[in-house]
Amino acid sequence: MTSATATPIYYVNARPHLGHAYTTVVADAVCRWHRLLGHETHLLTGTDEHGLKVLRRAEQNGVSPQEWTDRLVESEWKPLLETLDIANDDFIRTSEPRHETGAQAFWQDLHDRGEVYKGEFSGWYSVGSEEFVADDDVLDGEGDDEGFKISALDGSRLEHVTEENYFFPLAKYQQRLLDLYEQNPRFIQPESARNEIVSFVRRGLKDLSISRSTFDWGIKVPWDEQHVMYVWIEALLNYVTAAGYGVDEERFDRLWPANIHLVGKDIARFHAVIWPAMLMAAGQPVPHRVFAHGWLLVGGQKMSKSKANGIRPDELVDVFGSDAYRYYFSRALTFGSDGSISWEDVHARYHAELANGFGNLASRVAAMIGKYFDGALPAPGDLGPAEQAIVDLVREATTTADAAIEAVAPQDAVAAVWTIVEALNGYLTEQAPWAVAKADPHDPRLATILVTAAEGLRALAVLLNPVMPRACAALWDSLGGAAIGELSDQRIADVATWGQIPVGTTITKVPSLFPRIETETPA
Ligand code: MSP
Repeated sequence: MTSATATPIYYVNARPHLGHAYTTVVADAVCRWHRLLGHETHLLTGTDEHGLKVLRRAEQNGVSPQEWTDRLVESEWKPLLETLDIANDDFIRTSEPRHETGAQAFWQDLHDRGEVYKGEFSGWYSVGSEEFVADDDVLDGEGDDEGFKISALDGSRLEHVTEENYFFPLAKYQQRLLDLYEQNPRFIQPESARNEIVSFVRRGLKDLSISRSTFDWGIKVPWDEQHVMYVWIEALLNYVTAAGYGVDEERFDRLWPANIHLVGKDIARFHAVIWPAMLMAAGQPVPHRVFAHGWLLVGGQKMSKSKANGIRPDELVDVFGSDAYRYYFSRALTFGSDGSISWEDVHARYHAELANGFGNLASRVAAMIGKYFDGALPAPGDLGPAEQAIVDLVREATTTADAAIEAVAPQDAVAAVWTIVEALNGYLTEQAPWAVAKADPHDPRLATILVTAAEGLRALAVLLNPVMPRACAALWDSLGGAAIGELSDQRIADVATWGQIPVGTTITKVPSLFPRIETETPA
């Protein structure tokens, strides 16, 4: 069975900002780790292209919605994946025929099972978040929003809608959903999101309007051409249409149910309430887990396009590089909580942790093997207690990091691996190979120390590869990793096995992995 991971699919009303890239980077790092465990993995991401929000943005720009989404997907959203070195296996656009076919098949199935009915909807709708807002959550706008109704959920402006629509009988799934959360406590995580969802469902659910009939930028309801699917109901289906639902049974069996959906907490309800209810209604298994992460805050506010505080990922990557970007977002924030980010913090961590901590370690070791052994890895002597402590630490840190990845706590995984960086730096300071060489260039300790450091770096190249693939590939090359095999073929289980780099392997000088950067803030 494949371990399938998915990010949300992103609205293409605007360019991506760091908030969007956050989920994708973590999803990619988690998947890359799973690959190193030897698991068959699959990473899905994509774009959510229908609905009023995208339609209106296209209209404002004077182009058809299809032209608009084609342009943005090609110029912004797909290139973002390259910029961030995302190794996704699939990219689904909801305007693709495969999605339309699968979504219509799913709807037809719901209809055939009596899980859809027609009714009249009258209430409030937020185009900003593409959701129906209950009367209790409607507020009178103030300031710029004077004269408008706004949503208590996210402050977006509301529009009143009265339409004949199709409905999904969500209310009747209340108990089955509560049973799901009870029987599978990991279904929705972290605990804060789980508590929020459980109490939301306990308060009772209302049936959901799932089609719109006043515009046509969407997928037609298969039995009624006057209606398009409500964009959220259609978007959630991407997870199964990309897996081949209704089209490719073999693929669907392999990829569904997904192992995990990673989402922001603002969309946890859609994923942990509506989505499993739809799957239950269609007789399909639900995903194993939904993990809701927190928000990136800038100056204390959620980063978002509408607040114009959205920094673009490529602005950071241009200065710090994609590895540092991936490192920062995996390490500096706690995945399930909100966290503040700033350019200054990226800058500070880049220098302290990457340039001085990791990069410097790698270059020092390669330089010393160059200087004292003409770049050929010497044969080590017996391991003493200091060396054994490094081997033990690598083993423990690997176990801790693996458990952290399983708990979707990338920050803890990286912190665990970083204990190796720190221990190796401390080991070199204590063992002072330069002093050993000065005292007696033939002292066998010199080889033992440098081989221990090189083996430690080998372990780091594997363990950090999911987060910093470029730097780790360069480090692997410098350590003559080809003599061991491809970096991507290494396994987490073997990381702490010492003596993998053959004696005599040429260790080359590492190109500066994290060169110093002078810019303090964006130009
Ligand atoms: N299209 C829907 C998702 C459909 S999935 C079937 C959507 N798109 S979105 O582009 O608005 O947001 C996508 C993701 O980006 C969400 O998980 C959201 O939480 C995340 N982020 C957007 N701004 C964010 C921050 N400031 N911080 C962290 N993540 C945030 O919702």
